[in-house]
Amino acid sequence: MAIGLMGAFPQEVEAIRYLMENREDIELAGRTFSYGRLAGQEIVVVFSKWGKVNAATTATLLLSRFDVAKVIFTGVAGGLQSYVNVGDIIIARDCVQHDMNAEPLFPEFEIPMSGISHFKTCAHLSETAFGIATHFVSEGIHEELAVDLIEEFALQQPKVHIGTVVTGDQFVSSAQHVDRLTTKLKESLAAEMEGAAVAQVCHEFGIPFGLWRIVSDKADHTADIDFTKFAEHICPAYIRGIVPVLINQLSRS
Ligand code: ADE
Repeated sequence: MAIGLMGAFPQEVEAIRYLMENREDIELAGRTFSYGRLAGQEIVVVFSKWGKVNAATTATLLLSRFDVAKVIFTGVAGGLQSYVNVGDIIIARDCVQHDMNAEPLFPEFEIPMSGISHFKTCAHLSETAFGIATHFVSEGIHEELAVDLIEEFALQQPKVHIGTVVTGDQFVSSAQHVDRLTTKLKESLAAEMEGAAVAQVCHEFGIPFGLWRIVSDKADHTADIDFTKFAEHICPAYIRGIVPVLINQLSRS
């Protein structure tokens, strides 16, 4: 069975496609699903598109049309805590749809009639990703990125965090919005726009799900500038350094 890979940024998905062998592209509902091999393992990679509905639709197609044993989501996210910096890696232990609110019928953040607010990721996927990401930020990054880019983006000592990722149909770009999120979801490390939607689809299909994100911005008033520059110049290097090793290790376990 294949491993499904979803990426939230076209450049990341292109970086994976470039590394694949025997690639075949299949068009479905305006999405290109690339089927082939990476590090000796069959994979299907696809751009999620942005936002919860887009990502859930992509995940549903991935799980219903392809023989996929697990799903890994990669992308960028805005850091929500003062100690989470651009270039750090977040491995999700769980994820929440921060804009889900059917109060007073159901508690805030709970998916109606499911009893779930926090979707847990697969512990094995997360532990494997944590080890590989930790090695990458201390060593691999220097092989993948030129010194001037490391200096420009202050990537001398990125950290790897494991914890809660929050998902919503909002690009978070102000200190007030960060405060609102971290007041209600105190433990949240990073904000993005797809992860917990894909987690819900995987939960419903009974498929293990892993989510990791590279911090592209601090979710403040400079978020849009940092996000674009980071995603274009830095993300593909993280993907090249991490994804093939992750796929290889997962294919053997
Ligand atoms: N993805 C990357 N940065 C983000 C942010 N600040 N808010 C939501 N999604 C993001």
